[in-house]
Amino acid sequence: MSDTPRKILVTSALPYANGPIHLGHLLEYIQTDIWVRYQKMRGEHCTYVCADDAHGTAIMLRAEREGITSEQLIDRIREEHQQDFADFLIEFDNYHSTHSEENRELSALIYERLVADNKIAQREIIQAYDPEKEMFLADRFIKGTCPRCKAEDQYGDNCEACGHTYTPAELIDPRSAISGAKPVNKASTHFFFKLPEFQDFLTEWTRSGTLQPQIANKLAEWLDAGLQEWDISRDAPYFGFEIPGQAGKYFYVWLDAPIGYMASFKHLCERRDDLDFDEYWGADSKAELYHFIGKDIINFHALFWPSMLSSAQFRTPTAVYAHGFVTVDGTKMSKSRGTFIMARTYLNHLKPEYLRYYFASKLTSNVDDLDLNLADFAQKVNSDLVGKVVNIASRCANFITKRFSGVLASECTEPELMARFINAGSDIEAHYENREFAKAMRNIMELADTANQYINDKEPWVIAKQEGQEQALHTICTNAINMFRLLVTYLAPVLPETAANAEAFLNTRLTWQSRADLLLGHKIEPFKAMMSRIDTKQIEQMIEDSKEGDPAIKTAELTQPKEDETFAEEIEFPDFAKVDLRVAIIEKAQHVDGADKLLQLTLDVGGVKKNVFAGIKSAYKPEELEGRLTVMVANLKPRKMKFGLSEGMVLAAGRGKKGIWLLAPDSGAEPGMRIQ
Ligand code: MSP
Ligand code: ZN
Repeated sequence: MSDTPRKILVTSALPYANGPIHLGHLLEYIQTDIWVRYQKMRGEHCTYVCADDAHGTAIMLRAEREGITSEQLIDRIREEHQQDFADFLIEFDNYHSTHSEENRELSALIYERLVADNKIAQREIIQAYDPEKEMFLADRFIKGTCPRCKAEDQYGDNCEACGHTYTPAELIDPRSAISGAKPVNKASTHFFFKLPEFQDFLTEWTRSGTLQPQIANKLAEWLDAGLQEWDISRDAPYFGFEIPGQAGKYFYVWLDAPIGYMASFKHLCERRDDLDFDEYWGADSKAELYHFIGKDIINFHALFWPSMLSSAQFRTPTAVYAHGFVTVDGTKMSKSRGTFIMARTYLNHLKPEYLRYYFASKLTSNVDDLDLNLADFAQKVNSDLVGKVVNIASRCANFITKRFSGVLASECTEPELMARFINAGSDIEAHYENREFAKAMRNIMELADTANQYINDKEPWVIAKQEGQEQALHTICTNAINMFRLLVTYLAPVLPETAANAEAFLNTRLTWQSRADLLLGHKIEPFKAMMSRIDTKQIEQMIEDSKEGDPAIKTAELTQPKEDETFAEEIEFPDFAKVDLRVAIIEKAQHVDGADKLLQLTLDVGGVKKNVFAGIKSAYKPEELEGRLTVMVANLKPRKMKFGLSEGMVLAAGRGKKGIWLLAPDSGAEPGMRIQ
């Protein structure tokens, strides 16, 4: 490290607040977090901010479907996101929301500066409009029959059956995916960012070392083809910020989303004396600014964003680092195969550090896709982390504790070997800095092999049984513990929890600078198990839980197809009154041996117990249900089923494979109450 620490601001893309975090997202947050932890560990002044991307039509519609306000939805999702990130050991300095005061102000400021710079145009455009729902429809909210292959129910921009691309106007019998109404054409004024005026600026900026070569080449193609003006406004109803002075017009979500990076940082500056907004964002800022993103959102970060920033007299990013997409077992993540894995589902079965290490062991600085091969994942984690690294300490620590009162020998008998471990740090350092984590992991595992070889050669367990070999045993174990210390120091950005456990065990702080100071004549603590092996059963169970019907997946659904349009035959009121619907509390829920779909529920209906078999196994885990209120048909004649007597039915809504939702009464209801 140089004498004055670098000032570095780092961001990851802001996840949409309309669905849960999945393993694809996590590649990015893990990659960024490792890089940030590495910078901090070396003593740089590094700040990592993020936020939820809270605006847009999808969020508004989903809130509507759930019968809550958009604000309620984004608050809830933000909490879930933050919990997922925290549990994956991703440590933001600040996690904010794009639906914040800071972002509203900054978006207005930037927009006004763009207007003043004459970079905003205004003109009327014709768009599809849903006359029932009274809103304009983006292409993906229009469905109809493919004009080429005649497949029904295709989205407005391309056919999933034959791959044909078209405009919504070409669809046969187009329908609004929201209301089912026939869209009409309607004119409206939109605001445009004059991107073509940035052609020269962008040609220069994209070639100035700010982008990876693959990306710079791609952008050169786009720039050659010529740029188009960018539509930055949307009409009401829209969940977002109203454009200053333009009632009923809102900023398109992608305008204020990247400004969310600034807003999150600004929000942090209010709490931190060592951070100054202008020092990081002013036009002549000397601080470094890095955006980590996925390859699908490059145009927003490498075309629109730097152009907006420069026109609004802010600094532009030092670099934008794009990564590829996660595939699982060689193909796109898939709900039916159970490989569309939510962060929470993973955490229910496996430790976060396993995935952090696996991603690190495969991450490079380029934009290639990254395959999570589940067999390889288990094998690599077990053999590298458990078999090689942790094993070194577990093989030697007990001798130090039992034979030498926990105190390491006072001299190192292998100075050359130790020097190799210490000097390896400079290559590893460069690999981290350059986001070549796979290379860093390879170097570290080579050192781990060396350490294990050393122990195998010296056979401390044999020496321990020989008379007069006390000193040899002491120094061998001391050397091994010191090698372990260096390995964990190098792995610390990837394995923060293991590093913290190792610090407790070694009774020292692990820092990059102090790595050359060997632990000699130093007291360590008794060794405790640090990491267990992955059992393939855990992976199988995770896949099982990720198959269609997982409650986490249901919440990711965007639009609901219209089904069940015709209702059952009309009934008279007395018919309805015969059904005794009651509030019940689920006291106990358990799996039923041999049943694919059923869970066995013990319900308490105000003192009366009922045993019910419910076909909701695909949607809920038993432990999620216990203690919850639901609604049941209490006077249904008991039915003998294969697994026992069912004394009622719980009510749930569902659409076949699309999931099952258990009905629950509003708060205040109590078991036994009759529903009328
Ligand atoms: N909200 C926008 C980003 C706004 S940034 C100002 C967005 N959100 S997202 O939730 O769809 O994606 C967040 C990040 O996760 C993006 O960088 C995206 O590329 C990344 N990934 C989403 N799915 C992914 C994979 N399957 N694999 C790797 N990264 C993926 O885009
Ligand atoms: Zn088609």
